[in-house]
Amino acid sequence: MKKGSFPLFLAPMAGVTNSVFRTICREKGAGVMTTEFVSADGIMHKNARTREYVQFTEAERPMGVQLFGGDPDRLAEAAKQVIDWVHPDFIDINFGCPVNKVVCRHGGSSLLRDCPLLEKVALAMVKACDPLPVTAKIRIGWDEKSINAVQTSRILEGSGIRRVAVHGRTKAQGYSGSADWEVISSVAASVSIPVIGNGDIIDAPTALRRRSSGVAGLMIGRAAMTNPWIFTEILAAFEGKEYHAPTLEERWSLVRRHCAEEVVTRGNERVGMQGMRSRLMAYTRGMPGARPLRSILSGISSLMELDGVIEHHLAGIHHGEV
Ligand SMILES: Cc1cc2nc3c(=O)[nH]c(=O)nc-3n(C[C@H](O)[C@H](O)[C@H](O)COP(=O)(O)O)c2cc1C
Repeated sequence: MKKGSFPLFLAPMAGVTNSVFRTICREKGAGVMTTEFVSADGIMHKNARTREYVQFTEAERPMGVQLFGGDPDRLAEAAKQVIDWVHPDFIDINFGCPVNKVVCRHGGSSLLRDCPLLEKVALAMVKACDPLPVTAKIRIGWDEKSINAVQTSRILEGSGIRRVAVHGRTKAQGYSGSADWEVISSVAASVSIPVIGNGDIIDAPTALRRRSSGVAGLMIGRAAMTNPWIFTEILAAFEGKEYHAPTLEERWSLVRRHCAEEVVTRGNERVGMQGMRSRLMAYTRGMPGARPLRSILSGISSLMELDGVIEHHLAGIHHGEV
């Protein structure tokens, strides 16, 4: 991270932040990005899925690969392999994933309640990746009775982790309730490594508020799914510049491009468009006439259908029918 800069990170989101979407977010101002979480075992087997997860283009740098697992040796070996394989700018360790399948295998947030293992993982990864930086992403604790982000961050710092992103929720919260920025702020005050604050940043005013919490940068996830321009908007607010929100035409044009690139990536129009359905739900949130629009988009299978929907929607807006 450059001295004096205050970067915006795109939060890793499984099934969402692939290379196509990351490229879009980079163009809109996302400063640092990572892949979605990839299992250490997946790296060892180098299957097609994993290959896709870890690939990125030069335009996406600085890029990290995020790994998860609960076995320090396997994680360290996976990190070495992925470094040789795709040459990322850093390796990120996931200590936040609340999904049972991951937690049961002692990965993700399960390490938040096993500090000795968390330390072993961090130490093994730092050693294996040296001189490449290793960063970490944590939640504030396992549940409300065991909020320990200050303790875990100190352990991570002591193990040589170079930056920690803190999602201000506990594992037990999942994505409910709200992110606790007081805890994020106390983590930032307790360690010397950069702390990146994450959770519920939805627009420039929230980002401006969170900027003063002592963190070294902000990480944005779900809001970018609806509005990738959020990075441009926040950067403009930081610089005191005026920001012009995209027009509806511009929003549709980005959606069209995203779909078209996804179709190329999948190599199959139907599969590509079906995979975009949930993304289209996010993109159309807040659009005029969103309800009927979303019901049509939930069954979409081709770019031609999408073109028809866009044309119809824009015509309806211009004629005051939506
Ligand atoms: C669909 C989805 C997938 C996610 N996948 C990951 C992941 O692979 N790795 C990770 O560290 N966090 C993951 N997260 C958590 C986000 O990175 C982020 O911490 C969380 O969404 C809070 O930020 P936000 O309020 O800006 O969305 C995921 C979140 C969502 C909604």
